[in-house]
Amino acid sequence: MKPNIINVSLNDKFNNFSYPIFIGNDLLSNCEEILKTFISKRKVILIHDNFFSLNNKDNEKFISFFKIIKKLSQSVNLIGIPGGDKTKNISQLEYILEECLSFKIDRNSLIIAFGGGVIGDIAGFAASILLRGIDFVQIPTTLLAQVDSSVGGKTGINSNKSKNLIGSFHQPIAVIADIDILKTLSKREYLAGLVEVIKYGLIYDVKFFNTLENNYKDILNYDESKLNEIISKSCEIKSLIIKNDEKENGNRALLNLGHTFGHAIESFGKYDGTIIHGEAVSIGICLAFRLSSKMGYCPLIETERVVSFFKKLNLPTSLQEVKNISITTSEMLKKFKYDKKNKNNKLTFILSKKIGKSFIKNNMDENILTEFLDDEI
Ligand code: GLY
Repeated sequence: MKPNIINVSLNDKFNNFSYPIFIGNDLLSNCEEILKTFISKRKVILIHDNFFSLNNKDNEKFISFFKIIKKLSQSVNLIGIPGGDKTKNISQLEYILEECLSFKIDRNSLIIAFGGGVIGDIAGFAASILLRGIDFVQIPTTLLAQVDSSVGGKTGINSNKSKNLIGSFHQPIAVIADIDILKTLSKREYLAGLVEVIKYGLIYDVKFFNTLENNYKDILNYDESKLNEIISKSCEIKSLIIKNDEKENGNRALLNLGHTFGHAIESFGKYDGTIIHGEAVSIGICLAFRLSSKMGYCPLIETERVVSFFKKLNLPTSLQEVKNISITTSEMLKKFKYDKKNKNNKLTFILSKKIGKSFIKNNMDENILTEFLDDEI
């Protein structure tokens, strides 16, 4: 079956740039046609999650993908790194950069990132600074990466201060999302990715949220046509939002619903796997809705509907569910100060008027936040 193609077109000030996201079944073993034009005899560096290995017969898809790259490229070198947010640090970045340089890359070389959001973020960042920027292709292998992090060009690593504070905007030249590979995910990773899918319904499209609510059983059972539909819809909404705001000077910030809380929660967990990104964002979204209701922006009934959907999916919805991580209101407020959305030392949050309608709230009152967090923690 032919893949679904969503084009990401950016109305950049200086040039119009667009790239395709290919979504479909079994694409990795059948991507020769798709990748031919993007690789065309270049030198390729395949940066992959260590979870995938050429020596493991269970990694059939990775092996057949590698064979295709080998056939299409001038040469291919591999760099395996661990998945998980702990990898997004400056020493792993340095390792990747030095390895790439040792392969004698030039400006026509191509990086391919094969893995989840962490691999895409760090490999994309390396691509953006090597030789002042080389091309890269994203092969997202988690639901989270397929619907969010592989699309839109945000790349980077974490700082000790908080998440994703060091990075760049560097768009991939193509994204290939193979739905079958999602079956390699643990249920926990899969559910965590679903949070970013639900996010699109919550910020932008109540009909999409209704679809997710009505079809959640099929989605939990990896129904392929439903997955194709929801991944495509998510990418479509994301590409619409970033079309006119690649660098997040405006509405792109809406994609951060739940992330200010979420990033703070994750960084308290030191990225050791106690809580993973999607779980932290699940709590963050519920907090953002509860805060919106507390401030009179969002009817309580909408917030209750959101929280009960996350509960139905067995996702965490409150800070009290976070075990073995110490969280205090004052530490949380300190983390918020590093958030990239803030302006002139004033906190910015993404809040909600109702399901499908999020908005950017600048100049957030810290007293209200303190009172809110004291009640939540
Ligand atoms: N993940 C949010 C964004 O790409 O803007």
